[in-house]
Amino acid sequence: MGATGAVGSTILEVLARARIPLSEVVAFASERSAGKQVEFDGSTLECRPLGGDAIEGLDLVISSAGGSVSAEWAPRLVDAGAVVVDNTSYWRMHDDVPLVVTGVNDDAARDHHGIVANPNCTTMQMVVALKPIWDAAGIERIVVSTYQSVSGTGRRAVDELRTQSRALLEGEHPEAEVFPHQVAFNVIPQVETFADGDDYTTEERKVMNETRKILGAGDELGVSSTCVRVPVVTGHSESVNVQTREELSPEQCRKLLARHPGIVVMDAPGEGIYPLAIDAEGRDEVLVGRIRSDPSRERCLNMWVVGDNLRKGAATNAVQIAELLHERELIRAPRRPVRIG
Ligand SMILES: NC(=O)c1ccc[n+]([C@@H]2O[C@H](COP(=O)([O-])OP(=O)(O)OC[C@H]3O[C@@H](n4cnc5c(N)ncnc54)[C@H](OP(=O)(O)O)[C@@H]3O)[C@@H](O)[C@H]2O)c1
Repeated sequence: MGATGAVGSTILEVLARARIPLSEVVAFASERSAGKQVEFDGSTLECRPLGGDAIEGLDLVISSAGGSVSAEWAPRLVDAGAVVVDNTSYWRMHDDVPLVVTGVNDDAARDHHGIVANPNCTTMQMVVALKPIWDAAGIERIVVSTYQSVSGTGRRAVDELRTQSRALLEGEHPEAEVFPHQVAFNVIPQVETFADGDDYTTEERKVMNETRKILGAGDELGVSSTCVRVPVVTGHSESVNVQTREELSPEQCRKLLARHPGIVVMDAPGEGIYPLAIDAEGRDEVLVGRIRSDPSRERCLNMWVVGDNLRKGAATNAVQIAELLHERELIRAPRRPVRIG
């Protein structure tokens, strides 16, 4: 679902090499895209709109068609017999819906009632990097500042960056349509919106709330986030300051992270080696570097965490959840319906 989108097209790419037996793959998009061809595993699929018989007989749906579409269609797909792995924010904080990052909290998937939520891309790459630290030394507080790419907002946002960049280089003054301000050659300290007078954005709230849900922590885990949009096409970068419960030196942290599947440590700053957004693009791992002690506070480390927001931040994790559900025989498991509301 959302097969023509930035995430949906990446899902099709990642799904082609997934460890799941596929008898048929169906591509759903909006009415606008009915009949449009999308690529899958060396061939093409014709997009269908949602509705009617098209949603019958599906075992698994990976959805990235936006929150309002998931709000309406995920329960209908579950009623029709499918398990839904949902990329949107709509179901993530729902009590009956597990929020799963594979390699971090796989067991949470066991308790699904038809919907499994895929976390926000910014949160996802950060918790991958923090989970080994959480397990080894405990974490008291996280302060994260993000440098988020435009593809995190979807295809139209990528087009806007390209169009604005070309126009500005030609001396023109383009309008901002997708973002609240010009994004080309600029840095915008607003990702998503400010809801109901809140002075944190909805993206910043997602980072704070989803991090706690994934790690199974309550308010005792301090999380503070500032989310910023930068003119990068793909790959979110994050400056993460983490205060641990137990002492953990930068060297111990490097060794700990390097042992963990799904993490690549790139940390020789004197030689110019640290993760870059362009290194992360097209990779499924999360890249970590610039690991160093924070001289202003005890038991505190700073690090630089980079990931492809469309891969582990969205499509890769969604497909890994699907693999997990298949391996644990949780696709056709008996379940009670999700409570709506
Ligand atoms: N981009 C990221 O890095 C990222 C990461 C994690 C999660 N997400 C979440 O994933 C979702 C999709 O993001 P995206 O970046 O892929 O957006 P996108 O590029 O704008 O794609 C949106 C997709 O949803 C489809 N769609 C829209 N309305 C629909 C409807 N009424 N019925 C069926 N399909 C419909 C679109 O189809 P048409 O082409 O036919 O309009 C398109 O395939 C969002 O909820 C986003 O928050 C995104």
